[in-house]
Amino acid sequence: MTVMTSTNTNAALTLRKVNKSFGEAHIIRGVDLELRTGERHAFIGPNGAGKSTLFHLISGQFKPSSGEIFLGDIPIGAVSPERINRMGLARSFQITNIFSKLSVFENLRLGVMQRFGMQYTLWRPISGYRKVNELTEQLMEQVRLSRHRDTLGGELSYSEQRSLEIGMTLASDPKVLLLDEPMAGMSREETDYTADLLRELSAGRSLMIVEHDMDVVFSLCDRISVLVYGQVVATGTPEEIRNNAQVQEAYLGSEVSA
Ligand SMILES: Nc1ncnc2c1ncn2[C@@H]1O[C@H](COP(=O)(O)OP(=O)(O)OP(=O)(O)O)[C@@H](O)[C@H]1O
Ligand SMILES: [Mg+2]
Repeated sequence: MTVMTSTNTNAALTLRKVNKSFGEAHIIRGVDLELRTGERHAFIGPNGAGKSTLFHLISGQFKPSSGEIFLGDIPIGAVSPERINRMGLARSFQITNIFSKLSVFENLRLGVMQRFGMQYTLWRPISGYRKVNELTEQLMEQVRLSRHRDTLGGELSYSEQRSLEIGMTLASDPKVLLLDEPMAGMSREETDYTADLLRELSAGRSLMIVEHDMDVVFSLCDRISVLVYGQVVATGTPEEIRNNAQVQEAYLGSEVSA
């Protein structure tokens, strides 16, 4: 297990002794973790290990039972998800989360409007929309969906829907980006495409990603943490994780033989 330095001021996100229980079930058990500024950090671990729960804790959907979470230097353990989002942290969910009856442009514009705290109303001055429309166009370009501008969300291919969802997540221009299995259910080709997209989109941000595809994890990420039964059993570079006997036993071994 890698020892964490306690005085790293360079951390985008820090978890200290974080615990989460649901009744008697102790799901997250003493997690210490640091997301360094600018790094791409993967979370791997068996089904039910607590990866999504950890994301819910970081993004404020769940409150820790004990321990503390810092965004930069600011404790966010008791802060609402909306506020955490405005502070510069955005996340996607494991389930696709877009408006199927709205166009690509409209979906992204909703995200951008939310960033400025704008409601979807008709009486806004048009000048306010100009900036929003501009940013929406940029975002659409970034997630490579400009040619699908007027396509309804529900009519996009599955992987394009995930791109749109990533775009929605990026609409708040977050410093810290949390993605929960963005490649789930994708073909090899779609997975590689999305990994490439994420490499591009995460530039200048700090990324935390839950992903089961080991090719993606090992090629995309600077560091990897392994979560088993709610505990981080190892954190390290892809090389270190690959060679970690405990990890191989706890996770990679079973992945390989599966
Ligand atoms: N709201 C809740 N109430 C009670 N138990 C919960 C709740 N949310 C999650 N759990 C439990 O916590 C454990 C961890 O679930 P979690 O979804 O975080 O795992 P995961 O690592 O994301 O798994 P997967 O790889 O399948 O997505 C599971 O046993 C789950 O049943
Ligand atoms: Mg999960």
